[in-house]
Amino acid sequence: SGVEQLGNMIAEASTIVPFTGAGISTECGIPDFRSPGGIWTRNRPIPFDEFVASQDARDESWRRRFAMEPTFAAAKPGRGHRALASLYRAGKVPGIITQNIDNLHQSSGFKADAVIELHGNTTYARCIGCSKTYDLSWVKPHFDKTGRAPDCADCGDPVKTATISFGQAMPEDAMLRATELTQHCDLFLAIGSSLVVWPAAGFPMMAKNCGARLVIINNEPTDQDDIADLVIRHDIGETLGPFVGN
Ligand code: OAD
Ligand code: ZN
Repeated sequence: SGVEQLGNMIAEASTIVPFTGAGISTECGIPDFRSPGGIWTRNRPIPFDEFVASQDARDESWRRRFAMEPTFAAAKPGRGHRALASLYRAGKVPGIITQNIDNLHQSSGFKADAVIELHGNTTYARCIGCSKTYDLSWVKPHFDKTGRAPDCADCGDPVKTATISFGQAMPEDAMLRATELTQHCDLFLAIGSSLVVWPAAGFPMMAKNCGARLVIINNEPTDQDDIADLVIRHDIGETLGPFVGN
């Protein structure tokens, strides 16, 4: 199953950088994007320019977000999250790069500044003009009363979940820090991502190019399996369960 080989690679590594996608959170009840039943098999993504241009698109975006709220609110870290948090506590993981927006790495014990969120975070909101942040508890009553997406109290621009939509600029600081981490690790673990969304999908091969060993854990093949040192095509919770420590 590759678990033993993974264990050896973890033992031999001094600096491990995990890189996660939606597959690590499916056992927590949060659907991924591209599997059967995934988010993009049910809803078309709303690109950033559409969100900016259309009140209807913004309303729809917030309707979807609040429809997901019970799922996000109930989600607890899974075995994958907990195993990575154990390696972090053991001092082997300086930081984690994630495409996920669900805040579960923080909940599992990573300090906020050790979680590099390439695609933002859906547990709070932000004005797209002035970047003022808002709790969802500010958005919710407004949305419930009017059925409409709110505008910023300070500058009047639209307020959006603090996530990155297609067509929206990547967070510069997160990209820089992810690059830095990737270039200075000796083991890179790509976990639960289809590796089709760029520039995020560039990190595994960047790690490989910089001399790290690359492990891909995903129950479906990816385009980068052929450059990996180890591919574990198996359930993440079962694969990482043995590495859940104290
Ligand atoms: P995807 O849905 O594209 O890929 C998730 C992968 O995890 C799939 O290949 C699944 O087969 C696999 N998977 C799911 N559950 C698993 C499990 N329990 N064990 C093993 N493998 C499992 O999600 P991402 O790669 O994260 O970005 O998607 C990348 C980006 O696309 C997201 O961050 C999001 C989305 O559009 C934006 O919206 C900008
Ligand atoms: Zn504003």
